[in-house]
Amino acid sequence: MIDMYFVFMEDYRFSLLKEYEKYLSVEEIDRMGKFVLQIDRDQYLLTRVMARRILSQKLGEHFSTLVFENNLYGKPYLKNDSKRFSFNISHAAGLIVLAIDDNAATIGVDVENLSSEVDLNVRENVFSNEELLLFEQVPWVDQKKYFFDLWTLKESYMKAIGKGFSVAPKSCSFLLEHGKYQFYENVMESAPNEFSFQLFDLDPCYKVALCHKNENNEINSFRILPYWEVIDYKMSSGSYILNI
Ligand SMILES: CC(C)(COP(=O)(O)OP(=O)(O)OC[C@H]1O[C@@H](n2cnc3c(N)ncnc32)[C@H](O)[C@@H]1OP(=O)(O)O)[C@@H](O)C(=O)NCCC(=O)NCCS
Repeated sequence: MIDMYFVFMEDYRFSLLKEYEKYLSVEEIDRMGKFVLQIDRDQYLLTRVMARRILSQKLGEHFSTLVFENNLYGKPYLKNDSKRFSFNISHAAGLIVLAIDDNAATIGVDVENLSSEVDLNVRENVFSNEELLLFEQVPWVDQKKYFFDLWTLKESYMKAIGKGFSVAPKSCSFLLEHGKYQFYENVMESAPNEFSFQLFDLDPCYKVALCHKNENNEINSFRILPYWEVIDYKMSSGSYILNI
């Protein structure tokens, strides 16, 4: 079963968020420091807090005991108990998405902001020949939507297998067949594959794709968390106290 969590970066209190910096590893602090913009550093920190908060509740362990490591290509996993849970993270301007699988199956998620400008010519570099042929048949008013559908699906796959952009996006194909995207790891071989996909709009602004390698691929829960629930604080004698 998959649980999906969403947090919008709205109305957040930086001073409270900063309190959580002490729970980051040296590597995480270093990475956070490399972002030029404060908003990006905050998003990085809030993502860490969100993942720790939710995973620690699932594991029944204290927030501070979770240790994350990355694979060779940067995909984070939980060192504490990677056999119980797998997860993946994605962000797009103002939104953080976390997908967790409680069977530790291969999982990848991608979110794209549909209001971003996109040069549709990049499809030549990222779509397979078969996808390009189908793209030419799409009415121009639908081409941007079609582009984002394919791009989000491709990224969710590249992230599920944990290799990100070290896999050529052209190497796999999503072909619209009978109104549904059919996935081919290699369209020339068209061998059956074990991946399943879900594609949906969170609201008119965000497209989300989930890639999963498990028979039981239902989304069990879908929660938009308010910032204060992730930060988890209470007011006491006029000041805020974090519930860690
Ligand atoms: C993973 C990747 C496709 C993400 O692309 P993106 O559209 O910029 O970003 P998204 O918001 O969708 O995803 C970012 C999140 O994906 C996760 N992630 C990072 N690398 C990943 C990978 N190889 N596979 C799956 N997930 C990955 C991280 O959690 C990251 O968020 P975080 O930095 O806050 O933890 C891209 O960054 C990539 O290809 N990275 C690999 C680079 C690489 O090969 N590095 C090797 C040396 S470290």
